[in-house]
Amino acid sequence: MSDILVDSVFRQDVIKGLSARQKYLLPKYFYDARGDSLFQEIMQLPEYYLTRAEEDILREKSSDILQACITTQTTFDIVELGAGDASKTIYLLREALHLQCSQQYFPIDISANMIDHLNQNLPCQLAGMRVNGLSGEYFPMLAQLQASRPTPKLVLFLGATVGNLSPAEALSFFRDLHSYLNLGDYVLIGFDLKKNPQTILNAYNDKGGLTRAFNLNLLERINQELGGNFNLANFIHYPVYDPITGACKSYLISTCSQQVSLDDGTYFDFTKDEPLYMEVSQKYSEAEIAQMGREAGYEPIQTFFDRQQLFTDVLWQKVIS
Ligand code: AVJ
Repeated sequence: MSDILVDSVFRQDVIKGLSARQKYLLPKYFYDARGDSLFQEIMQLPEYYLTRAEEDILREKSSDILQACITTQTTFDIVELGAGDASKTIYLLREALHLQCSQQYFPIDISANMIDHLNQNLPCQLAGMRVNGLSGEYFPMLAQLQASRPTPKLVLFLGATVGNLSPAEALSFFRDLHSYLNLGDYVLIGFDLKKNPQTILNAYNDKGGLTRAFNLNLLERINQELGGNFNLANFIHYPVYDPITGACKSYLISTCSQQVSLDDGTYFDFTKDEPLYMEVSQKYSEAEIAQMGREAGYEPIQTFFDRQQLFTDVLWQKVIS
């Protein structure tokens, strides 16, 4: 995709979001170079338990996860949606080589940089694993794989990326994913669990202010790339968690009445205290996850937890076509 096209989609999405009755921005736009590096730092925070918890699962349970997928004599392809730097996935891939159940890894990521990096570096760390990174949107890349290879698949969707969707959107995502799989294929999905509400809120409201900076960076990105004139000092970072719905939502609140414009002349009025909705990080109970899987046409096979039971990677199998 050309930069011009990417820029215009970004611009359209920003204008649409800031013109809505309830203003919002899309979390996928957090991840420019600065956003990537802020998120890397967030993952190291003491408050941000998610990454460490899932790493614990993959370090300790990869053998169990793969054993659950080994049903025939044939090996399977491992496909990852949103692979990023694959730093947690490496545990699973190492174990797959050891168990000789897979020699083919297809990481899919929207970031061409990440995919180049994986294609370059993973093969030396994982002798015997063929790595074919695909850069692009998930479903077109899955369609390409589905058309070119009949091999059974284990599809990974880790890191609570699905948390950025509402439960209704997540259900429809898993139904769509279902249509790119063959009967018997497996998916392993990372969900953050409902837990002590304060633990969750702290993860999105760290004392050092990195999460605040991460949210404000999207306003800065709009300033840089779309010629915006957001004054970052006029917004406060406000995360909330509802322990009943499991929705942890982040807002930026306008501290005054103000107008913000882009270099194409479009402008947006904020009233004092008006919220700008940035992101949902949805939390689930074990039962809610299993129910969603069944509703989307999968059989929940096994649930894997970290030692503190903060996070879960669940294994589903496509059982109906
Ligand atoms: C990348 C979507 C899993 O929601 O926990 C971290 C993003 N936002 N801190 C999350 C995020 C604020 C993260 N996910």
